[in-house]
Amino acid sequence: MCYNNRTMNMSIAFLASEVAPFAKTGGLADVAGALPVALAGAGASVRVLMPFYREVKKKKPPVRKLWEDRIVDGLGRSLPYTVHELKEAGIATLFIEHDPYYDRDFLYGTAAGDYPDNGERFSFFARAALETLKKTGQAADIIHAHDWQSAPALAYLRFLHSGDPFFKRIRTVFTIHNLAYQGQFEKDILGRIGLPESLFNLNDLEFYGKVNFLKAGILYADAVTTVSPRYSREIQTPEFGCGLDGLLRQRSRVLHGILNGVDYASWDPARDVLIPARYGPADLAGKSVCKEELIRMFGLPASAAERPVVGVVSRLAGQKGFDLVADAVDEIFKRDLTLIVLGTGEEKIQETLKAAQKAHPDRFGLKIAFDEKVARTIYAGSDFFLIPSRYEPCGLTQMYSLKYGTIPVVRATGGLDDTIREFDPVSRSGNGFKFDDFTEAALLACLDRALAQWRNKAVWADLVRNAMAEDFSWARSAQAYLDLYREILS
Ligand code: ADP
Ligand code: GLC
Repeated sequence: MCYNNRTMNMSIAFLASEVAPFAKTGGLADVAGALPVALAGAGASVRVLMPFYREVKKKKPPVRKLWEDRIVDGLGRSLPYTVHELKEAGIATLFIEHDPYYDRDFLYGTAAGDYPDNGERFSFFARAALETLKKTGQAADIIHAHDWQSAPALAYLRFLHSGDPFFKRIRTVFTIHNLAYQGQFEKDILGRIGLPESLFNLNDLEFYGKVNFLKAGILYADAVTTVSPRYSREIQTPEFGCGLDGLLRQRSRVLHGILNGVDYASWDPARDVLIPARYGPADLAGKSVCKEELIRMFGLPASAAERPVVGVVSRLAGQKGFDLVADAVDEIFKRDLTLIVLGTGEEKIQETLKAAQKAHPDRFGLKIAFDEKVARTIYAGSDFFLIPSRYEPCGLTQMYSLKYGTIPVVRATGGLDDTIREFDPVSRSGNGFKFDDFTEAALLACLDRALAQWRNKAVWADLVRNAMAEDFSWARSAQAYLDLYREILS
């Protein structure tokens, strides 16, 4: 009876290290920004907790200061923090301010590497988030933590708060957005962040001589999810398991793959105010305007508008497979196309792309930056969108491209494989093009299949229509999360 009441007006607390529109480096922010809205739309009450970074402060959100408090860390230092609240669209966002940890140029580190105190920074966030929930006096039914940065919350719940009546009935969900990022630190981190040193054993947080924060999420949450069905199977294999596949197989009974969605209130070319012209499936004139503007934006000759534009918006990390593009670049430019890339990330990939751009200045537009307006102009102004990922837990950019009538060319892995169906020019079914092998030959063959359809205008129009008709709205996935919350509450 009492569980029924709890599921009817379910109260959910999200813990995430980035949340759009406040702070973003990748897809986690989009998910942590949009899923709460969809859950609230389905009747749940949602609070979102995140650090109060410099990036957030610069945007000056109209927050209300709630209170100041202190946490004594494992070294006995009493560290102050301030909690600010912003209520918008039915969601309360609670910001944890502690300037020595979060008032920095970047969220996680520089191009040269991670901040060395990330273990302390994010365990502090997780701990302060739990204290904040308790201090509000409003119980939560579900704590839903995301990625390694929030995972310490699951360890604190189990080992610090196990006797606390406020937390006793709370059930927990942990979502893995990317298994490759695990938050690994030296053994002594446990003592410093106020967790028992006895957790340094293989059945708890030890991992090849280090402490692994992600393990806390996988081990101690009531349910574990990842962001696409295929990725949830892949991570249980040695190839994709990043050393944790054994543990994930052990936890397979509580492991679920729930596909991410798209917030179409934000990602829709008919409403997007950041793109040069608006358009929809019935009238694509605005898309041509966007293409011309995109070409200008990247300083390419106007004649590029006559060729297909292959766009890329990506973190430049090994995961995303741009070394394959760099290797194949001379072959790629034997095709009649223009390549446009927006990305930031690892120094080495940036340098390789810069060198390739120098070699093909009229055909290759490159910006090393994180820029929302440029990104959206690429989704709108390109003909194709290339995602050659080695692995991809879900991937949002292929879903955004579809909505903007830009055809994805992707490697068939993780969520890319779950969302993209190869276009068949005979039956005219499908929404993109995909290749299996992570090889130059497979990439080029896929690109050739795609380019062949671009030249056939009648077929192309059907393909664009298919793409724009896809519906990956959050409502379905939010329902899947609510079902899961109900299951672990009952
Ligand atoms: P990941 O989270 O692995 O980076 P996703 O496809 O899930 O990949 O999400 C990437 C998100 O980050 C998208 O919203 C994309 O538009 C955005 N993004 C990535 N790189 C940039 C960039 N350089 N400038 C602006 N937005 C970017
Ligand atoms: C991660 C993954 C990406 C996914 C995103 C949001 O950053 O790399 O595939 O879409 O999280 O879940």
